[in-house]
Amino acid sequence: MVQKAHQDPETFWLEQARKLAWHVSPQQASRSDFNNDVRIDWFSDGRLNVSENCLDRHVRTQPDKVALIWQGQDEDQKESLTYQELHARVCRLANVMRRLGVKKGDCVAIHLSMVAEGVIAMLACARIGAVHVVLFGGFSADGLAERLSDSGAVLVLTADVARRGDKRIPSKTTMDDAITRCGEDSRVQHVLVVAVTGTDVPMQPGRDLSYADEVAQELPDCPAESMSALDPLFLLYTSGSTGRPKGLVHGSGGYLVWAAFTHATVFDHKPDDIFWCTADTSWITGHTYVVYGPLANGGTILVYEGLPSWPAPGRWWDVIDQYGVTAFYSSPTVVRAAMREGDDVVRSRSLASLRVIGTVGEPISPEAWQWFHDEVGKGRCPVVDTWWQTETGGVMITAAAGCVTPRPGAACLPLPGVSAALLDTQGQLVEGPGEGLLCMARSWPGQALSIWKDHDRFRQTYFTTCPGYYFTGDGARREADGYYWITGRVDDVVNVSGHRIGTAEIEDAVAMDHEVVESAAVGIPHDLKGQGLVVFVVPKEEGVFHPSAVNRAVAAGVGRYAVPEKIYVVRDLPKTRSGKIVRRLLRKIAMHDLEGLGDLSTLADPDIVPELIALVKAQA
Ligand code: WT7
Repeated sequence: MVQKAHQDPETFWLEQARKLAWHVSPQQASRSDFNNDVRIDWFSDGRLNVSENCLDRHVRTQPDKVALIWQGQDEDQKESLTYQELHARVCRLANVMRRLGVKKGDCVAIHLSMVAEGVIAMLACARIGAVHVVLFGGFSADGLAERLSDSGAVLVLTADVARRGDKRIPSKTTMDDAITRCGEDSRVQHVLVVAVTGTDVPMQPGRDLSYADEVAQELPDCPAESMSALDPLFLLYTSGSTGRPKGLVHGSGGYLVWAAFTHATVFDHKPDDIFWCTADTSWITGHTYVVYGPLANGGTILVYEGLPSWPAPGRWWDVIDQYGVTAFYSSPTVVRAAMREGDDVVRSRSLASLRVIGTVGEPISPEAWQWFHDEVGKGRCPVVDTWWQTETGGVMITAAAGCVTPRPGAACLPLPGVSAALLDTQGQLVEGPGEGLLCMARSWPGQALSIWKDHDRFRQTYFTTCPGYYFTGDGARREADGYYWITGRVDDVVNVSGHRIGTAEIEDAVAMDHEVVESAAVGIPHDLKGQGLVVFVVPKEEGVFHPSAVNRAVAAGVGRYAVPEKIYVVRDLPKTRSGKIVRRLLRKIAMHDLEGLGDLSTLADPDIVPELIALVKAQA
């Protein structure tokens, strides 16, 4: 397969594409171009509907197969939907959306936690050609407002209140606040409210509608819109090193081919699998491996609402045993947290149904990999560490289950059709073993098409660092036999428990506090979270400034998930003579790593360095 994909990619990808159901079958695979204006173009003469591929064609062959198992965080909250039932639920909602005036190409924001309606809403959008924008429940009202305005969403789906362990998250009122903050920029016509907890929430007459009441009025059938392979399926906002979060645009045809192909190959999918990807649907992982990949392949997905250790440690292991989960796809953060709970917790569960286990989102240490392999996989299950990004649509580098021998801690080998390359900082290709910037030489079907309403930013962000290549933002090392090890981001992006956070986003939020002159955020290693954020702030008046103001500003501007580990109130930041903050120094100081600080004489004020070192030491 690897050879065929490499030698004749046109034929190989057309063969993969033909496994889907098309209205018009594509005759051409890729016409992508990483040069000039940059064009990502897959199967562009093909037409299809993504929801038909995930539902209708399985309703024809296996109507009574369970498509979706939903388990709430309380044991008695659960439901199980066959393909026929899921199809009906999706169609009812799609009809509601059409009646409310949502048209092909319109954006619909989905702000729901891990409830079945979240998955149903994504598929309903796909059915009528609306572009979904799934928004994380942890975003602040400002964070939501920014994304609502940028996408121009005309319809919003939200919960009354979301559950998170003992906590209750006021989804509806936060969304109200967000829409108000959009002001003139809001295009929201209606808000559909899912009664997750049945809490009374304020409803604005004419605008806000009950989800349950609306779907009850519709028929369980809805003709699907015929889409070009290049029509957008969804936008997903992600952070970069500069500027506001960007809405990556994923298309319909190439994305679905990639979702189905990678789900089948990486996890060695079998028809009887119960596939549990623990990611929230507001991340790309949730899009591709909770929803589109497994459903395109006619699988059974499990959607679990709750936290790993609520109400008690081992809850997720119980869910695996209860439903006979065969494939478990989670994150290094979850593995590290489970390791801390002690081996008894996992050893007191059977986990005998598991066949393959995997992680994504951040590097997994060889130690955590081994623990996952021995204690969760009981030494029998292949462990797939999967390297990929929001931009790549699906897995790119991994040890595909049953095909590739894994190496603990390594991302391993590029999938068929993935032309990974390493370039040095001069833009020269690194041959053989070595280290460099991780790039892709050619497009692959899952590649994002653009940044919403800003194709030039897309070109500049990904295609100018290494001209002619897609630049991932990561560094990597390659062994003589081609195995890759990811060394981490080479830009100002921090990965906190798999949450991708741009340091510029944090600094922008902190700057909203009038007491602050400037700030610098850096990421440093963290035992549990992978990386933690440290912020250095220069206040207007040092004596009267309290660090908690920084937490408040970050929680309000970004969300609680981005609140820093540590805040240092400082007189000044280390800067070059041209005024550029030297983050490398701040990172080393924050890590108490004082070796090799380099030549400080090029700083505008070298005296600030010993001052910062003393301050960090005093507060350790
Ligand atoms: C960044 C992408 C892919 C879905 C979840 C994250 C880091 C991701 C790995 C891994 C080492 C990894 C990279 C990448 N990353 N997976 N297996 N090993 N690093 O998607 O939010 O777009 O973040 O996460 O730095 O660039 P994302």
